[in-house]
Amino acid sequence: MLIKRTPAVRSSEITDERDYLRRRDFLKAASGAALAAAAAALPDRPLRAAAAQEPLAPIAPSPFSTDERWNSFRDITSYNNFYEFGTEKEDPARHAGQLRTKPWTVRVEGHIGAPDADYALEDILGPHALEERVYRLRCVEAWSMVVPWVGFPLGDLIRRFEPTSRARFVRFETLFRPSEMPGQRRPILQWPYVEALRMDEALHPLTILAVGLYGKTLLNQNGAPLRLVVPWKYGFKSIKSIVRIQFVENRPRTSWNVSAPSEYGFWANVNPHVDHPRWSQKNERRIGRFFRQETRMFNGYADQVARLYTGMDLRRNY
Ligand code: MTE
Repeated sequence: MLIKRTPAVRSSEITDERDYLRRRDFLKAASGAALAAAAAALPDRPLRAAAAQEPLAPIAPSPFSTDERWNSFRDITSYNNFYEFGTEKEDPARHAGQLRTKPWTVRVEGHIGAPDADYALEDILGPHALEERVYRLRCVEAWSMVVPWVGFPLGDLIRRFEPTSRARFVRFETLFRPSEMPGQRRPILQWPYVEALRMDEALHPLTILAVGLYGKTLLNQNGAPLRLVVPWKYGFKSIKSIVRIQFVENRPRTSWNVSAPSEYGFWANVNPHVDHPRWSQKNERRIGRFFRQETRMFNGYADQVARLYTGMDLRRNY
């Protein structure tokens, strides 16, 4: 990722969504001119969009969730990376509203027993029970958040499509629609955005497809209507707004790896011992907190995933 300046942390960013809504009600109800001006100054675009999101239910809690404090709804929906909408952290919240996510189809194809076809989103989600997975998200730019995702294991979906023994990798593509994704009108990356996982990573129970967060369907800036979340890898692996899932034999070329191979590897496992060529990966800034904290191997998920990489040199395979 390009290095970005990080805006000063506002107090509003460290309140949780309930407090934030309550405070806005209070501001709305108040009649003083000063308070009205204060209310007008609050950037409320993510909140307005949130009101249009649909609640998801039922959602079962997951034993894989961290009990760390969640980042606020505002942090999670207003400080984003989604280069299809621009390279600044505020661009996705500002521009993603123009993306139409209904209807939505996902092409599933490749080395599978099921037919290659375009599946309506409803058919993709159909039989899957939703879980809340509170995960740490560690961005390669050395900031992090804790996000209460709503989703289901990618492995459950993969098994429905009956991959054959030739399916060694799973490749994902984001929508390409420059008319609604202004960032795609510029060659920031090779579009569409592509990511991929080795089959055992894709089948790992920690890997989910997310359809929501904070109990509601995803906002566009977070990758509506369907995105990947792989909590032990840097955030760029967690591809948003997926329209194609391919089961392939050879390791796919992936967007950031193609764009800057010495900076962004295919594996992208969170690793405090392997620095990015331009900055350290030893610690991270949790959005909304003042002090930096140490980055943990595999983002704290080593007990669950280290065995996937036994015998692999993680310095060379970064
Ligand atoms: N997916 C697409 N299609 N385009 C992107 O630019 N950015 C990635 C990832 N998925 C990106 C993407 C990066 S770098 C990160 S850190 C996460 O999305 C950020 O997810 P969030 O904005 O929901 O926190």
